[in-house]
Amino acid sequence: MESSSPVAAAAPAPAGAAPPTIVLEVFRYLPDSEDAPRYERFTVPYRHDWVVLDALNHIKDRLDESLAFRWSCRMGVCGSCGMMVNGAPVLTCGAFLRDYLPGPVRVEPLTHFPVSRDLIINMEDFIHKMEAARTWLIPKEPRRLEEGEYRQTPAQLAQYKQFTLCINCMCCYAACPVYGLDSTFVGPAALALGQRYNLDSRDGGQAERAEVLQSDHGVWHCTFVGDCSRACPKGVDPAGAIQMGKVQGTVEYMKALLLPGRRARAQG
Ligand code: FES
Repeated sequence: MESSSPVAAAAPAPAGAAPPTIVLEVFRYLPDSEDAPRYERFTVPYRHDWVVLDALNHIKDRLDESLAFRWSCRMGVCGSCGMMVNGAPVLTCGAFLRDYLPGPVRVEPLTHFPVSRDLIINMEDFIHKMEAARTWLIPKEPRRLEEGEYRQTPAQLAQYKQFTLCINCMCCYAACPVYGLDSTFVGPAALALGQRYNLDSRDGGQAERAEVLQSDHGVWHCTFVGDCSRACPKGVDPAGAIQMGKVQGTVEYMKALLLPGRRARAQG
């Protein structure tokens, strides 16, 4: 392990040969006791089947146990290992070292969020936004358990299934330039999950969600850059969900405009 600044590039391996080691430049920061972040260089073994998370675990187990980062499943399910790798938001359990040869590989916390420690971000803002967008099923017809399941057809499931694949990794927030400029933006995952429930045939919470989804900080704040969808490690299309939300909001607005009695009935 060595401190770095400025950073020098590692010597490339001979063509066709895997290097024995690779260098990671890891973001280190203790906001409570340090004035500014720094980067620390660690030389770790290179293995063809290692992902960045393996290299971080090697550092923690063998080189510096104080390094702080989140992970759990190591198989792209829990969503806890999202970090910036060479400037891009990725799941580190799915980011192979071989794709970053010859290194160095720079690892940083997800951008646009406050840092709690080293590679760990403060998720509070994201959690509040998921709550505000009511990202859960609000049953259209509440029923008791003994009344059975809420059934739906395969076609009804297909309406929203793609958006259920979100694992809340927050890579889309780190990729979103709008959220980076204005953190009052509800943001890609919360808007996409709100839309996921709006599209669910069993749900009746559209009006409740509209207070947030159709607000100035909701879908209309999105400028449709599309980086959120490109960054999603699960292939979810939050940008698409947000545009669907804009169409839905427009339809509801026009209905209220052209059929004022409908709004009065709904309100009264
Ligand atoms: S460790 Fe669970 S998604 Fe990477």
